[in-house]
Amino acid sequence: MNNFQFSQPTVCIFGREPESAFKEQLRKRNVKKVLFHYGGGSIKKNGVYDMVSAVLKELNIETIELSGVQPNPRVTLVREGIDICRKNGIDLILAVGGGSVIDSAKGIAVGAAYDGDVWDLYIDKAGESDLKKPLIPVGVVLTIPAAGSESSPGSVLSNDEGLMKRPLNSELIIPVFAVLNPEYTFTLPVYQVACGCSDIMAHMFERYFTRQKNVDVTDRQLEANMRSMLHYSKLAQDFSDDYDIKAEVMWAGTIAHNDMLSCGRSGDWASHNIEHELSAIYDIYHGEGLSIVFPAWIRYCWKDDPERFLQFFKRVFDVDYAFSHAERAINEGIARLENYYTSLGLPIRLSQVEIGEDRLREMADKCVMHRGDSIGNFKKLTADDIYNIYRLAL
Ligand code: NZQ
Ligand code: ZN
Repeated sequence: MNNFQFSQPTVCIFGREPESAFKEQLRKRNVKKVLFHYGGGSIKKNGVYDMVSAVLKELNIETIELSGVQPNPRVTLVREGIDICRKNGIDLILAVGGGSVIDSAKGIAVGAAYDGDVWDLYIDKAGESDLKKPLIPVGVVLTIPAAGSESSPGSVLSNDEGLMKRPLNSELIIPVFAVLNPEYTFTLPVYQVACGCSDIMAHMFERYFTRQKNVDVTDRQLEANMRSMLHYSKLAQDFSDDYDIKAEVMWAGTIAHNDMLSCGRSGDWASHNIEHELSAIYDIYHGEGLSIVFPAWIRYCWKDDPERFLQFFKRVFDVDYAFSHAERAINEGIARLENYYTSLGLPIRLSQVEIGEDRLREMADKCVMHRGDSIGNFKKLTADDIYNIYRLAL
């Protein structure tokens, strides 16, 4: 096990009727002026907008709204948000929605503390040392279990100029609190439930595929969480207003990405970067990109450490194996993983989302750009490797 430091500062307010704990968070932070940030309007249909507005009104908090965050959030709206924060002395950015809204809010927080253009921070032209601290804090009301951004240090933004999608990681943007009421997820379309589950699973796959030895505790925590997700993903689609099912998925989503399951090990993260190139150019959902990329990545990489993949497929997907027939067991495991995705209605090939061969080379080259010509920790992947993985996914 590697040495590690672990701190998880987000106050999670989990469950029904979160209003009083939500108010307490706002009161104790002495919040006076909020930027209320949200997406395309789902929160107006399911009552979440009304709940948040009522709380802000009751506490006499001055509120400026900024809506219109798109899935794969754009840096252009973030720039608008930065401008609002600077002109109005905002003291909390409240992200009400999913990963896209939260990531946009984090972008605003970090950009408001930087004198140059916020995109510099996403392409490593500037870093934490260039920020004026402290940052405006971000609070969250989550409406979709998926990205885990409600308690992660990550923010992923898209830039239509150059069709780039890039992550920023900084402890400074971990949300200070997150309201997690499973009831807010009842209105999710079944396809969004699937995309969310795929992302939650992917966050655990990325952590599971490590070269570190002697990480049994986190291996088994990951396996338990992954098995739970195998059980509850389809149920969450079929019983959209079952509180108990939605609660399991919501908490699994937070745990999957709050870094507790990374303790003592380093994750891979190549599949995430390979997927981000797909959603940058084709604007597909992150979760549907991951269900295409992961099986192809496993096909390409398993021979580098067959034992790890055999353990994964045995303990998580119940694949029985005899080590002398490793390849057969791996193929059976990949088939079971693909069946899981397919049962949720997710694609497992690029052709299913109408992506052909024409831009694979371009995406592979962009994927390693500014990253030292390779990505991934489990296996270092060059642009040629990434191109081969895209081809396996055709
Ligand atoms: O915009 P609205 O109208 O709210 O609709 C959203 C959106 O269309 C809808 N939705 C959300 N909650 C709903 C709902 N519809 C009905 N009822 C509800 N309760 O769902 C759609 C997708 O929302 P989005 O926020 O895009 O989903 P998700 O949470 O999957 O976020 C995806 C983004 O997060 C990034 C991804 O790359 C992608 O850009 N990620 C962020 C990470 C992080 N910050 O740590 C890590 C992840 O790996 C990921 O990369
Ligand atoms: Zn993800």
